[in-house]
Amino acid sequence: MRVAVGSDHGGFKLKTEIIAYLEEHKIDYRDFGTYSEESVDYPDFARVVAEAVARGEYQRGILCCGTGIGVCIAANKIPGIRAALCHDTFSARMAGEHNMANIITLGERVIGPGLARDIVGAWLGATFAGGRHARRLDKIAALEREYCRC
Ligand code: RB5
Repeated sequence: MRVAVGSDHGGFKLKTEIIAYLEEHKIDYRDFGTYSEESVDYPDFARVVAEAVARGEYQRGILCCGTGIGVCIAANKIPGIRAALCHDTFSARMAGEHNMANIITLGERVIGPGLARDIVGAWLGATFAGGRHARRLDKIAALEREYCRC
């Protein structure tokens, strides 16, 4: 599994922590930036990570900003992306089992590094349950086809 990782300045330190987690667990990743706490615009980083996941170059993506909200909204604009804002481990597991979220987003100003690590682990370790959940994902994809003007 390859994981694309990105953040804005507000999520930079949390991204660094998540990268340490990925390295400790020998999970292949690429850091798409930002690379400092200098102010940047979160849609730019959500875009490159989400595009890389949507193209299939990376199976998963992790995005951080101050709240996790901005990068979630932006990533979900990319067709094929199911980004989930996760600030607890139950939601992270469900994002994998029920929603097959291919990106999770986290807020550095909301949770600490220990919980963020547990969230990433819960999500990466979850297996999609299929069945009725697959039918619902099909309906989300149909919505996307209906409303996407690209
Ligand atoms: C940046 O100040 C902040 O707005 C951003 O990191 C994020 O929280 C937006 O949703």
